[in-house]
Amino acid sequence: MTRVRKILRYFIVAITTVACLQLGLFLYTHFVSWKCMSSASSTTNSSPFCKELGSKQETVPPHWKPLKQKSTLITNRTCIQYYSLLILVSSAPANLQRRNIIRKTWAFESAFKPRWTTVFLVAQSRIQAESNSLAKEDEVYGDLVRADYYDHYWNQTLKIQMGFEWATRHCKFSFLLKVDDDVFVNPERVLSFLNEPSTPKEKLYAGEHRINPRALRDGKWKVTIEEYSETHYPDFCPGLGFVLSHDVVVSFVKAFDFVPYFRLDDVYVGMLANKTGIKIMHNAGFESYPPIMLRCSPHEGTLVRHGTEGYCLIY
Ligand SMILES: *[C@@H]1O[C@H](CO)[C@@H](O)[C@H](O)[C@H]1NC(C)=O
Ligand SMILES: *[C@@H]1O[C@H](CO)[C@@H](O)[C@H](O)[C@H]1NC(C)=O
Ligand SMILES: *[C@@H]1O[C@H](CO)[C@@H](O)[C@H](O)[C@H]1NC(C)=O
Repeated sequence: MTRVRKILRYFIVAITTVACLQLGLFLYTHFVSWKCMSSASSTTNSSPFCKELGSKQETVPPHWKPLKQKSTLITNRTCIQYYSLLILVSSAPANLQRRNIIRKTWAFESAFKPRWTTVFLVAQSRIQAESNSLAKEDEVYGDLVRADYYDHYWNQTLKIQMGFEWATRHCKFSFLLKVDDDVFVNPERVLSFLNEPSTPKEKLYAGEHRINPRALRDGKWKVTIEEYSETHYPDFCPGLGFVLSHDVVVSFVKAFDFVPYFRLDDVYVGMLANKTGIKIMHNAGFESYPPIMLRCSPHEGTLVRHGTEGYCLIY
């Protein structure tokens, strides 16, 4: 009888010890990640950045090499984990409301180990109040990627450069999706498209293929002969959204050295592709001109839809 009791006691002690160790480990990992998250904020869903954790995570893939800094990139925070899809959103300093709606809608991701994440590309403001507000926003959400130049519609190419440079220097990912802040994105659909066997996993530049596009001499996107002397641009995908594989982003950052700066950012990406021999893969899921009446109702095949912002996203 006493022997049975003794065995039982040992058994209970052993179980308790194991349970305590498990609990300890759980608390430790939780505490570390909590500490990490709280540096961004408690309101943020899944901040992609965290130096403390980031440095301990994921082994570096063999093709990943740090590049020499080329843009005036300031942000040096590292992605918290590896992502299949990294979404970069070009956004102007004043567009806080758009960013907040995006954070709450299509960019909201609550998975424990998400496959994708979203950051916003925002540069500097000449308005002091806006500068302060941006610094605060970055503290709260920890999802801004910033460089040291003044933000302006005609400085968008600098934005692309800092975004691509940040991505290759500080983040591990398989695909990069660049979008504007006035679009709807269906990240799960984008991932499905990328996972399809017919989608190349390397040398990929996909979006709405503009074939043999003319260089416009008037209107919003006019360029002078001095800026661009030829009649046509290399093929490109409009800036509302396009996706690149990791190797392409790396080769584009290298190409910043020898492809002269051009003011129209989406055309510039087409020039980078042309110089590095990357062909465009057309996908009708990137919608520049969705039917006006149905603007707010993306369909099954929609990956990225232009003009679907604000109330469209909320209701
Ligand atoms: C990141 O930048 C800040 C200043 O902007 C600097 O103090 C810090 O040492 C940098 N961290 C790393 C890991 O380079
Ligand atoms: C673009 O950024 C540069 C560097 O900050 C600045 O000098 C220039 O004025 C900006 N362009 C516009 C149109 O604001
Ligand atoms: C680059 O552009 C030139 C001239 O527009 C064209 O002939 C060539 O096929 C393009 N190359 C690629 C890879 O698109």
